Amino acid sequence: MTKFHFLLSDLMFIRNFMVSYAMIVRNLTTDQPALLAFKHQIIDPQNILANSWTTNNSVCNWVGVSCAAKHPRVGVLDLFNMGLTGTIPPQLGNLSFLVSRNLSHNNFHDHFPRELGRLSRLKLIDLSFNFLNGEIPSWFGRLDKVLHLNLRNNNLTGVIPPSIANLSNLENLDLNHNLIHGNIPHEISKFLNLKILRLASNQLSGSIPAVIYNISSLRMISVASNNLFGSLPKHICECKNLQGLQLSTNRFNGSIPRNIGSLTKLRTLFLYDINLEGEIPQDIRNLQKLEIFDVGRNNLSVDASLINFLVPFTSNVYVIIFLISGDLTFAGQIPLRIDECMNLQKLYLDDNRLNGSIPKSIGNLTRLTYLYLGENNLKGKTFAFDIFFLSVNNRD
Ligand SMILES: *[C@@H]1O[C@H](CO)[C@@H](O)[C@H](O)[C@H]1NC(C)=O
Ligand SMILES: *[C@@H]1O[C@H](CO)[C@@H](O)[C@H](O)[C@H]1NC(C)=O
Ligand SMILES: *[C@@H]1O[C@H](CO)[C@@H](O)[C@H](O)[C@H]1NC(C)=O
Ligand SMILES: *[C@@H]1O[C@H](CO)[C@@H](O)[C@H](O)[C@H]1NC(C)=O
Ligand SMILES: *[C@@H]1O[C@H](CO)[C@@H](O)[C@H](O)[C@H]1NC(C)=O
Ligand SMILES: *[C@@H]1O[C@H](CO)[C@@H](O)[C@H](O)[C@H]1NC(C)=O
Ligand SMILES: *[C@@H]1O[C@H](CO)[C@@H](O)[C@H](O)[C@H]1NC(C)=O
Ligand SMILES: *[C@@H]1O[C@H](CO)[C@@H](O)[C@H](O)[C@H]1NC(C)=O
Ligand SMILES: *[C@@H]1O[C@H](CO)[C@@H](O)[C@H](O)[C@H]1NC(C)=O
Ligand SMILES: *[C@@H]1O[C@H](CO)[C@@H](O)[C@H](O)[C@H]1NC(C)=O
Ligand SMILES: *[C@@H]1O[C@H](CO)[C@@H](O)[C@H](O)[C@H]1NC(C)=O
Repeated sequence: MTKFHFLLSDLMFIRNFMVSYAMIVRNLTTDQPALLAFKHQIIDPQNILANSWTTNNSVCNWVGVSCAAKHPRVGVLDLFNMGLTGTIPPQLGNLSFLVSRNLSHNNFHDHFPRELGRLSRLKLIDLSFNFLNGEIPSWFGRLDKVLHLNLRNNNLTGVIPPSIANLSNLENLDLNHNLIHGNIPHEISKFLNLKILRLASNQLSGSIPAVIYNISSLRMISVASNNLFGSLPKHICECKNLQGLQLSTNRFNGSIPRNIGSLTKLRTLFLYDINLEGEIPQDIRNLQKLEIFDVGRNNLSVDASLINFLVPFTSNVYVIIFLISGDLTFAGQIPLRIDECMNLQKLYLDDNRLNGSIPKSIGNLTRLTYLYLGENNLKGKTFAFDIFFLSVNNRD
């Protein structure tokens, strides 16, 4: 009985040993050579990998490497901001247990090796701030567990591949500052959990697919500085969680959607230079959380009753920046009690048709650092400001 027991634990020991031996063999024969190939193929100017990524040290202890809890396999590769230079070697496609890869803020150049399409466990990909070029490969569609895809600030060309629709779990897509052209694919509507969509500073054209505004999880839509056209939707009503809407510098037309005021969580609204006409809707008063309001360089008018429209924001401590600038035909006077916007940091009211005098209470805005009042019909002396930038030259 005892003897048998003994034998059983012996067997258990041998079995456990075999399992760990198999795993050691596997991590040695896949992840280690893959990472060593990576090390040998790149320039590591700060010698960060040189002393750590060596065979006398377990892969799981290498700088920037973390292993999965259950398997002795590399799960996380965090090699950001190390000045690493070179191409991404195809051997990285062998890290089949990789869940998270952050190689941002380096000097990786050239294109994505297709072997990376094998990394089907990936949830987080951050290759932002590198020098990658070429197209976003359609095999990205195979990485269907990805939640977070950040490729911003590279030199990526081509179109957004429709296969991206396969990434149905995507929460954050950031392609800002690349050279991507073509349309925003309708497939984006498949991202039912999308929170952040950043496509700004590319060469996208066409109109924004209206389906985008139906993704109720969205918190940020940023498509500024592209060649997008078409009118803004008459109703932006489904994305109730939207905190940022950044459409500036495109070629839209039409007017500000009537019900913009229903986006009550909105904090930033950038509608600068997009060829808008018509009146600023009264509903804008509902945007109590607004921090940045930029409708400059359009052909908008303001209803007389909205002249004091700064005031609804005044008691709101969250208001920090309020921008109105450009060709906005904003007539009337600066509200006397503007100092109630206690957190105001920037006030751009230049190039409007303001008249009357500059209220002295502006001097009470202790956080104000930018004040643009030029090109109006304002009268009266200016007085002591402790302001970083001041532009108050007026027409008369
Ligand atoms: C591993 O070996 C290298 C020389 O090959 C040595 O510089 C390094 O200190 C060693 N690292 C460890 C952890 O023993
Ligand atoms: C392989 O995995 C085992 C089990 O987690 C670990 O103890 C060992 O250090 C790993 N070997 C290498 C070279 O990474
Ligand atoms: C690692 O990747 C290379 C290139 O993709 C491949 O040729 C090689 O067979 C892979 N090695 C292992 C152990 O999987
Ligand atoms: C990747 O690393 C950078 C630099 O530390 C960091 O700012 C960024 O948030 C990381 N990416 C993700 C997705 O965590
Ligand atoms: C993009 O390419 C241009 C020249 O082709 C280069 O000057 C620029 O630095 C590159 N930018 C990035 C982010 O790779
Ligand atoms: C989409 O994902 C499925 C599996 O989820 C896969 O079979 C298919 O090849 C993927 N499509 C593309 C275009 O990658
Ligand atoms: C948005 O959703 C509503 C109701 O769910 C639907 O009636 C409408 O057609 C959708 N709009 C678009 C552009 O898909
Ligand atoms: C907006 O421009 C498109 C052409 O790009 C035109 O068909 C449409 O009528 C314009 N809409 C408005 C409201 O001006
Ligand atoms: C501005 O809009 C008005 C109508 O509101 C129109 O008469 C005028 O031509 C527009 N100006 C420009 C420069 O488009
Ligand atoms: C400001 O201009 C309006 C017309 O645009 C005029 O009715 C009003 O009297 C002016 N106010 C001052 C103080 O000059
Ligand atoms: C500044 O604020 C104080 C307190 O709210 C007020 O008494 C004073 O009149 C204000 N100064 C000006 C110039 O409005």
